[in-house]
Amino acid sequence: MMEMLELFEAPAQDPRQRLGPAAVLLRGFALPYVREAMPAIDVVAAQSPFRYMVTPGGFTMSVALTNCGALGWTTDRRGYRYTAVDPDTGKPWPTMPEVFARLATQAAAAAGFDDFQPDACLVNRYAPGARLSLHQDKNERDYGAPIVSVSLGMPATFLFGGPARTDPTAKVPLQHGDVVVWGGVDRLRYHGVLPLKDEPHALLGSQRINFTFRKAG
Ligand code: SIN
Ligand code: FE2
Repeated sequence: MMEMLELFEAPAQDPRQRLGPAAVLLRGFALPYVREAMPAIDVVAAQSPFRYMVTPGGFTMSVALTNCGALGWTTDRRGYRYTAVDPDTGKPWPTMPEVFARLATQAAAAAGFDDFQPDACLVNRYAPGARLSLHQDKNERDYGAPIVSVSLGMPATFLFGGPARTDPTAKVPLQHGDVVVWGGVDRLRYHGVLPLKDEPHALLGSQRINFTFRKAG
């Protein structure tokens, strides 16, 4: 009897954590997609390899990135923008794997955003020590669609701030399989990632992969 009680009293961890009126963390949402998505990352990276881009300010990013989908996010000394062609290969960005698009659409729907059809998937690769400073996602043509951000591999601490850079930030621990979705009134909130610790992951080793899906064009 006692054991039963303890069983019932242990609160099952809520897989959803609200981060704002239109922002939510869906814990473990991507786990059922991982087996299919992992080889697709290699297919994308074989066509458009991960690279370290330079910011307009002249700093080389610590996060390596590539893209898939009709549009890809890039940065260089001239600024941030979306392009249809990978500036390194001179060819269109790789097609967005169907499993990526399905994951993005279903995560958005689970967060209350129906019919999300991303045309851009930024793939970020973090090694230990890599970080992403606070920024807004604002190179997209319209802010009607949400951002869907998928975490794989090593854990990270996601910083989720407000509409101003100086607003306080929540520190959100992200694990392999977690998905964060933000849109609507939360669409332009500042966010970033703290420097990663080296906590090797069983599947991905000493790296973290993040997919950021957007409707850019
Ligand atoms: C991003 O803001 O582009 C990536 C966020 C993350 O890696 O979790
Ligand atoms: Fe971002």
